[in-house]
Amino acid sequence: MSEPTAPTPEPMPSPEQFQARITELMSSHFGGSAEFAEEIVEKPDPLIFDKLPRDIKAHLDRYVIRQDEAKKVLSIAVCDHYNHVRHLRTLRAEDAERASRLEYVKQNVLLIGPTGVGKTYLVKHIAELIGVPFVKADATKFSETGYVGGDVEDLVRDLVHKADGDVELASYGIIYIDEIDKIAAPSQLNGRDVSGRGVQTTLLKLMEDTDVSRRSQNDIQGQLQAAMEFQRTGRVGDSEIINTRNILFVVSGAFEKLPAAVEPRLREAKTAKPAVWSPSELLKHATTKDFITFGYEPEFIGRLPVRVVCEALAANDLFDILKHSEGSIARQYRRAFAAYGIEIDFTEDALREIARLAAEEYTGARGLLTVCERVLRDFKYEMPGRGFERLTVDGALVKSPESALAKLLG
Ligand SMILES: Nc1ncnc2c1ncn2[C@@H]1O[C@H](COP(=O)(O)OP(=O)(O)OP(=O)(O)O)[C@@H](O)[C@H]1O
Ligand SMILES: [Mg+2]
Repeated sequence: MSEPTAPTPEPMPSPEQFQARITELMSSHFGGSAEFAEEIVEKPDPLIFDKLPRDIKAHLDRYVIRQDEAKKVLSIAVCDHYNHVRHLRTLRAEDAERASRLEYVKQNVLLIGPTGVGKTYLVKHIAELIGVPFVKADATKFSETGYVGGDVEDLVRDLVHKADGDVELASYGIIYIDEIDKIAAPSQLNGRDVSGRGVQTTLLKLMEDTDVSRRSQNDIQGQLQAAMEFQRTGRVGDSEIINTRNILFVVSGAFEKLPAAVEPRLREAKTAKPAVWSPSELLKHATTKDFITFGYEPEFIGRLPVRVVCEALAANDLFDILKHSEGSIARQYRRAFAAYGIEIDFTEDALREIARLAAEEYTGARGLLTVCERVLRDFKYEMPGRGFERLTVDGALVKSPESALAKLLG
């Protein structure tokens, strides 16, 4: 067989030729028009927002155990925000000029609390309930000059993606940034650490009011699409720019070192409070000044006016999650076994034991999955395809899965 000869490279096409070729390619692939059909799903319309804070909390209560204060605070912040959005939209339709002058200070939220206690979970359920796009990212991914594979503005572009290209809907979305405590820049540690501050500066611009281009400079495909859209419509529309003024930001972090900084101040204040405070109690007393000492720029922390602490979850909370949360992993296990025709049920005893073991993991509700996985792994492997129709998980099984499985398999 002869070696395939290397094709002679074609000369680089001009941008116009390139665009024409792409359009050609698209229409030959997707028929007459290069449009992508999108699945139409019935979604709540955030633009006719009519919920009360207590409606939102009631919805959250179905999934999230405890965290009442966080639920309340988030419910209020979200209602204010989307009431404002609704008002703004009505006004805009009547008098665009007045709408653009409408003053509004966003109530961006800072959620504080240990790992696995429901911070992300709360925000995800809120976004779902309201029907706005929701994007989540880790602050650790950012650097001053952007973050691995893109930049901070990509968060906004992701919102457009989540909104199926609806730029207006995206501009009312929720951006959630986790691990925000990792971009604090403690001044005492070393004088050179400016990256945290740099990221804060970039983020605060985004949190405030920035125009973000829908297509990233690094996104060749996006640039091409923009060129095609330009060709089709003959203009660069508003749909190419997303303003962040009405995007709600929720940031969160564990702030493990913050309680130690708050305690001396509380002690000095000599309140009638007990001499020993739990970390979450100390966090509740953290002031803006504490956050600045922790390593935040005043401008940054100042743009997070709503702050709330999520509580650590004890074994009985974990039990409640298993028993009552609509999103609990007990349900997930039921589905997983049902797929093999096996009906699984958990006794009260088993749930207590799982919760107790999970609490020892110190990873919040995530510990529940760790424990269930460890306990039920071999059952999930051995039982399918052997004619079993039922598995009752009781306390003894959770305590010693091996012997329970041996007994079952005979
Ligand atoms: N209070 C809770 N009630 C019910 N389920 C919970 C609760 N907290 C956590 N979970 C469950 O644990 C999972 C992990 O929680 P989540 O992602 O909200 O943690 P987090 O607080 O954001 O932690 P991290 O700081 O590590 O990001 C959730 O998907 C949910 O299934
Ligand atoms: Mg999280």
